[in-house]
Amino acid sequence: MRYLVLSDIHSNDEALSAVLHRVKRKRFDRIICLGDFVGYAADPNKVLDRFRALPKTRFSIRGNHDKVVTGTDPGELFNPPALAAARWTAERLSKENLEFLRKLPPGPTIIDDLFVVCHGSPLDEDAYIFSDFDASMNFIQMDRMAAGVDVCFFGHSHIPSVFTLEMDGIRVEAIRGARAKLRLEPGKRYLVNPGSVGQPRDRNPRASYVLYDTVEGVVHFDRVPYDVEATRRKILRAGLPPVLGDRLVIGL
Ligand SMILES: [Fe+2]
Repeated sequence: MRYLVLSDIHSNDEALSAVLHRVKRKRFDRIICLGDFVGYAADPNKVLDRFRALPKTRFSIRGNHDKVVTGTDPGELFNPPALAAARWTAERLSKENLEFLRKLPPGPTIIDDLFVVCHGSPLDEDAYIFSDFDASMNFIQMDRMAAGVDVCFFGHSHIPSVFTLEMDGIRVEAIRGARAKLRLEPGKRYLVNPGSVGQPRDRNPRASYVLYDTVEGVVHFDRVPYDVEATRRKILRAGLPPVLGDRLVIGL
């Protein structure tokens, strides 16, 4: 099977469209989204309408922004621009899109008995995986959830990255450049972040996604340019905090 894995689209329709255009001629069987469909940018309905109309089978879990927008979480821990964007989004979502977000299941969960997916981490859907210590705790949790499943995809940090559990410790890699290939090796375990489609935070503004080929055992990382200025203008025109547009331009 080949999976298109997306995360953290954050209401950025230009970025989502660019990624879907890039993968148009690539072969994949299912689409997985690791949550945070909305929040930050100005096109929550366009993003959700577009995603929900995709012809492939899809599986999605909720992100922390999706929870705040639907009222599942009060957003007390959000910074002011993020909370302002969540409130702005909640007032504008169509009934169908609000319902879609409300019905998103929490992570972690196992896809086709092959790999784990979560928004933040297998231990806690709202927690970040930043360090090798965070990763080590979550490798233990993966083992508890699904012994024999060696790969987990997570989002939330918006940084394309890989944590690899090897014989002598944990290797931490930030994925750099326009493209990268991760070949999975037997005996090792992996926590993989595909990066963010709509709000990258690794100082590279290009949209990020991965294709995972479970037969070849390869994860293909890819970055896609899109019209960042158009997204920024929409944020400003919508009256959303300008800093949300500025961050898109620098990729932070
Ligand atoms: Fe996010």
